Amino acid sequence: MKYLAVLTALAAACYAQTGLVIETNTNGTVSPGQNMTVVVLKPTESAPSIEVAIVIAMTQCPDQDCSSPSFNISQDLERVLYYGPYNPQYSSNRTEPQHQNFTVQVPQTPFESGDKVALSVTRFALDESAAGDSVVVQTPFITMNID
Ligand SMILES: *[C@@H]1O[C@H](CO)[C@@H](O)[C@H](O)[C@H]1NC(C)=O
Ligand SMILES: *[C@@H]1O[C@H](CO)[C@@H](O)[C@H](O)[C@H]1NC(C)=O
Ligand SMILES: *[C@@H]1O[C@H](CO)[C@@H](O)[C@H](O)[C@H]1NC(C)=O
Ligand SMILES: *[C@@H]1O[C@H](CO)[C@@H](O)[C@H](O)[C@H]1NC(C)=O
Ligand SMILES: *[C@@H]1O[C@H](CO)[C@@H](O)[C@H](O)[C@H]1NC(C)=O
Repeated sequence: MKYLAVLTALAAACYAQTGLVIETNTNGTVSPGQNMTVVVLKPTESAPSIEVAIVIAMTQCPDQDCSSPSFNISQDLERVLYYGPYNPQYSSNRTEPQHQNFTVQVPQTPFESGDKVALSVTRFALDESAAGDSVVVQTPFITMNID
């Protein structure tokens, strides 16, 4: 029984690390003022969750390096491009994970040519389990270049 509980806990920990996946309709280089599609995918999860809302934001990488351990995106979202409901859907033939597309405009300022930026999606959700719901807040991001 104990063994099973450990396995279940491990599975839950792995599951908790699966989050939203961010893609765009660009090659990773965008210009200030450009409109782009942000594809927010929700990979299939082992336990059900309720999506409450998301925030899409763009943040300048400090010293051009968003992988620096001192960079904590949840403390500085900088430019918010969208906030509101997130309602991912399957495509008609279910060949892709559930997703929703958002059209956002790359801010004119303060980003400049040559900058590296983080495009983040902060997720507010509820994990549903038999014991009761728990809060999920995650901020995955991808890095992009400003042309
Ligand atoms: C969302 O955008 C992606 C990439 O542009 C596209 O492949 C996909 O079909 C779009 N999904 C919907 C529901 O429009
Ligand atoms: C990406 O596309 C832009 C034009 O939209 C182009 O200027 C740039 O060279 C491309 N970058 C790469 C790495 O392919
Ligand atoms: C981007 O979208 C906004 C509003 O959706 C629109 O006013 C603007 O003309 C678009 N810009 C480009 C370059 O397509
Ligand atoms: C980042 O900031 C958030 C909010 O202040 C905090 O909860 C979290 O522990 C920080 N993460 C790291 C890795 O320092
Ligand atoms: C399923 O969707 C994919 C991607 O949207 C598309 O390429 C494919 O042709 C579709 N297949 C069918 C049978 O509709």
